[in-house]
Amino acid sequence: MSEEEHKLMQRIRYRHVEKIYTDLKELGYHDNDSLNVTDLIRLDQWHYLGTEPVDAAIELLGIREGARVLDVGAGIGGPSRYLAHKIKCHVTASELLPDNHRVGQDLTSRCGMTGSVKHVCGDIIMTELGNQEFDHVMSIQSILYVEDKPRLFRKLYDSLKPGGTVFFEVFCRLKDVENADEQAALDFFLLCTNTLPTHQDYRQLLEDAGFKVTVHDISTSYREYTYGRWANWDEHRDKYVRLYEEDMVDGWLKLTVTTKKLCNEFGLMGGGRFVAYKV
Ligand SMILES: C[S@@+](CC[C@H](N)C(=O)[O-])C[C@H]1O[C@@H](n2cnc3c(N)ncnc32)[C@H](O)[C@@H]1O
Repeated sequence: MSEEEHKLMQRIRYRHVEKIYTDLKELGYHDNDSLNVTDLIRLDQWHYLGTEPVDAAIELLGIREGARVLDVGAGIGGPSRYLAHKIKCHVTASELLPDNHRVGQDLTSRCGMTGSVKHVCGDIIMTELGNQEFDHVMSIQSILYVEDKPRLFRKLYDSLKPGGTVFFEVFCRLKDVENADEQAALDFFLLCTNTLPTHQDYRQLLEDAGFKVTVHDISTSYREYTYGRWANWDEHRDKYVRLYEEDMVDGWLKLTVTTKKLCNEFGLMGGGRFVAYKV
């Protein structure tokens, strides 16, 4: 692995990309079997609260059959496939890491969905999005990782048709860091990303790019979700070690403990949903 690839892999938490194949085996699928998208969507959503954020995007943006949607930071394509399957729209799934992109393409193809979900690989900042190509942009727990957010939002603005809309969900900072323990937890969570913007920071960034903005604070559900997830992994650690091996489970547990602390004990981190309108 080159130094550049190593840096990329380090930047991103969600690098246990092959885990999906273990999960599919548990459901009785063999290598290269066709997949039922309704089985897959229980396994391929790399964010909190299952498909609920995608349903929120559909409702808040009014996404309709035939719409053209860009999914920024698509992971292995879970939200893109769910959206395309449910609404019968066309989704471009943009993903930075080649491994995630490759697995996403494989899963989309095995679901027979290559006609409605198109995968593109690369940094969203460098990806050719065109002008006035999309009706909507959706992004779930990914925008945090894009360093140059002013440039990203300008680019998304240009890529939208007049009247186009954006939905994204992201982690937000709720207060200033107060001590070394909080700083250490935040640094561990953020990895190479430097900052955790507040709800107000995101609103300002979007307005600066020309959008009209509505903000939804979902910190309470992030608090409950991170607590419940930590309790589940902790209680069932042995079962998970049998399935995924010790290294992965311990790495994952460290992350779940840290997010639980950040969202609960420290009250430093929460969540936000942002709806932005191209005016
Ligand atoms: C937490 S995952 C969420 C994936 C997906 N949105 C989901 O909810 O299933 C964040 C994803 O954003 C991708 N990502 C990070 N920076 C990116 C960038 N600059 N351009 C495109 N994708 C990026 C990561 O590689 C990772 O797959």
